Amino acid sequence: MRALLIPEKGAAPVLSDDLDDQTILGAEAPGAADTDAVIDVDWSSLNFKDGMALSGRGIVRSWPLVPGIDAVGTVRDPGATGLSVGDTVVLNGAGAGESRHGGYAEATRVPAEAVVRVPEAFTAKHAAAIGTAGFTAMLCVLALEDAGMVPEHGPILVTGAAGGVGSVAVSLLAGRGFQVTASTGRVDSEGDFLRSLGATEIIHRDELSDTSPTEKPLQSQRWAGAVDSVGSTTLGNALAQTRYGGAVACCGLAAGPDLPTTVLPFILRGVRLLGANSVDAPLALRQRAWDRLAEELDVAVLDSLTETIGLSEMIDASERILAGGVRGRTVVDVSR
Ligand SMILES: NC(=O)c1ccc[n+]([C@@H]2O[C@H](COP(=O)([O-])OP(=O)(O)OC[C@H]3O[C@@H](n4cnc5c(N)ncnc54)[C@H](OP(=O)(O)O)[C@@H]3O)[C@@H](O)[C@H]2O)c1
Repeated sequence: MRALLIPEKGAAPVLSDDLDDQTILGAEAPGAADTDAVIDVDWSSLNFKDGMALSGRGIVRSWPLVPGIDAVGTVRDPGATGLSVGDTVVLNGAGAGESRHGGYAEATRVPAEAVVRVPEAFTAKHAAAIGTAGFTAMLCVLALEDAGMVPEHGPILVTGAAGGVGSVAVSLLAGRGFQVTASTGRVDSEGDFLRSLGATEIIHRDELSDTSPTEKPLQSQRWAGAVDSVGSTTLGNALAQTRYGGAVACCGLAAGPDLPTTVLPFILRGVRLLGANSVDAPLALRQRAWDRLAEELDVAVLDSLTETIGLSEMIDASERILAGGVRGRTVVDVSR
């Protein structure tokens, strides 16, 4: 089968047109369980994490391995999923592309406890366009919802707004009636794009990185809440600018995994920091998020933030995403 494979630790990915099926689908494949389903993959996607995996910056924990944390396709063998042969399904994370073969292959094994039927509102390609980034954007929105956040509370900040998580989060929050402020390093080139997704205010990301949040942990109260995919100083300043009783959903580390802050935003303003983890999300939460995506995400908007590439273009694209140069989402056609 056609697949992209990282042959060994530190090695560059290799595109093969005739990889032995058993290498990917056999019971000896890394992470394989008897309960797995087997799917014929049509689409995958490019996430920040895939960029890290393809460039040898951690993530992959078993070799040889097919990378790709997302896989969308049709069920060949349902395993213990309760799905039917021919169902269109989506897998986000759950070890794919990290400790078990992922979506950059024409077929793969998927864990029964994580695979979800693609909602009728979406084509298979739409599901890949959403991918882990869009799924995680919805997990963040649901975390804010569960924290009681409603549009009347005030504006929501979205950081890394022109990226995958950020752009879907902007669209989802605007669709729910929130006033959305988009923070981006690409105000000139992506400002109009972010407005088209529903952002009402665009700020330059320097506004969230120029101040030390450990020196100024309490700043002017600007946001009722935030969705942050950037981490580091940006998240520290987002917390410092969140209003009394607000909530910040945190999912990423595009600028770094550190979090410079103090306890003051939490103990003096009652700010809540809400973590989102797509990889280990239980099936019920996956189903809830995909159901809500189907209800809320406008497919015309999704199309407007999606680019399509083939497996042969992955190396270039992975470098671009790590350099912060990808707009919105990138779908991967595994057949080309
Ligand atoms: N917790 C989870 O389960 C989960 C799931 C998905 C993603 N993530 C994480 O979320 C982050 C975003 O993922 P993604 O797929 O959306 O990536 P992406 O498409 O590359 O988006 C990241 C965005 O962050 C901004 N950015 C990049 N480098 C930056 C820097 N040095 N300083 C400030 N801002 C920077 C850029 O936005 P602008 O150009 O607009 O400034 C960039 O477009 C990654 O860290 C990823 O690992 C976590």
